[in-house]
Amino acid sequence: MKSIEQLLNHPNVQFTPFSDGLPVDNPATGDIIAYVKHSSTQEITHQIEQAQSAQREWASKTALERADILWEWYRLLKENKENLARIMTMEQGKSITESRGEIDYAAGFIRWYAEEARRIDGDILTSLKNTQKLMVIKQPVGVTAAITPWNFPASMITRKAAPALAAGCAMIVKPASQTPLSAYAQAVLAYEAGIPPELFAIVCGNAQEISNTFTQTPIIRKISFTGSTDVGIKIYGSSANQIKKISLELGGNAPCIVFDDADMDKAVQGVMQSKFRNGGQTCVCSNRVYVQAGIYDEFCRRITEETSRLKLGNGLDEDTQIGPLIDKKAIVKVEEHISDALNKGARCLTGGKRSSLGSTFFEPTVLSHMTSNMRIAREETFGPVCPLFRFETESEVITQANDTEYGLASYLFTEDTARQWRVSEALEYGMVGINTGLISNEVAPFGGIKMSGLGREGGKYGIEEYLELKYLCSDIG
Ligand code: SIN
Repeated sequence: MKSIEQLLNHPNVQFTPFSDGLPVDNPATGDIIAYVKHSSTQEITHQIEQAQSAQREWASKTALERADILWEWYRLLKENKENLARIMTMEQGKSITESRGEIDYAAGFIRWYAEEARRIDGDILTSLKNTQKLMVIKQPVGVTAAITPWNFPASMITRKAAPALAAGCAMIVKPASQTPLSAYAQAVLAYEAGIPPELFAIVCGNAQEISNTFTQTPIIRKISFTGSTDVGIKIYGSSANQIKKISLELGGNAPCIVFDDADMDKAVQGVMQSKFRNGGQTCVCSNRVYVQAGIYDEFCRRITEETSRLKLGNGLDEDTQIGPLIDKKAIVKVEEHISDALNKGARCLTGGKRSSLGSTFFEPTVLSHMTSNMRIAREETFGPVCPLFRFETESEVITQANDTEYGLASYLFTEDTARQWRVSEALEYGMVGINTGLISNEVAPFGGIKMSGLGREGGKYGIEEYLELKYLCSDIG
């Protein structure tokens, strides 16, 4: 296993300040961990040009050759899991247990697409004439770019890069400025596995400039973005003049519906998992928990009990379950959502305030008596706040659950199989968790509808985003 210093042994990373370096800090302590190079637009343009020639060479390898290199990258990630997890916790704040889980999750995408690389099959179509053969082949889209978020610093890169590389594409990644070290550490292992540095490059710098460079160069043929809906709209708009392929995984406002007939233990556990994973900082976190009237009071009691037991702390401590939020701005948003709810009649059952542990720590919170006129009902909180809404009927709750511009994840808890189907089909979301709060894995298509995005990542569907169909019509008469 490599040391943290070895994993960060990339020319763009330094442990001492340098002239074009950007500091990366630990949200738990505010300490600077390292500095990363701020690349200029000219440097990034040059890297994109280099990626173009590297991509041609990479695409000329056999699928088996590409798959073998991806397998080696997967193996190196697993071998270095512990220190990759530590780097992640230091720059992102999440508990070390969650970081270890995220390295497994990240590696899972590489393994999956190492397998898929060999199954990029085409089709022979039934011809209209005896004298013609009609075929469809699939080819890599070319040079691609990814813009990735701070909440999953490793897996959101491999979920994009692994299918891109498997398909024969190049990828330039711009990680979030808060969490570039996990990206560089993964790149160091990718290069050791045999992925050329020109083919898979990490660039940091001014987000707006990099995004403009990606959208305006004709060399990049596809952009995959995970982040806020506001930024996604801008990237989508500015890619239009180049007619680029785009995947957008944007904001959510996930409803979680707990019916009277739910298995109470399962529902409590599922809500805790979907709400407090990564301190509430995931796009698929339950943002609105609807509980049916018959079990509302008991459910409030159980969730409050579980939430007040959560251990808040520095993510590097083994017993920490919830780390700090990413920055002070995130704390302010959580506070604003809570005070708006309390001013409109909500009750705080536990938490509700900053923690004495430091300026980025917020106590896990439960709010009851939530109503649809509160900000939380409309906006993603992205923090450790569990808001409990009461409802009476199935049709009423479906209307409320769908009453949002977003459509990423949704959850429901019920023991009634017919209801599971009925409600799943009625929910206007890209993903539905049924009696579970954890739905993400490398096998399934992750993505949303409405303002939550375009395209799917993961599974057999994810690689299609990096392939173009070519139709061949051959006259053999
Ligand atoms: C996200 O929050 O953007 C991704 C969450 C996941 O992959 O489960």
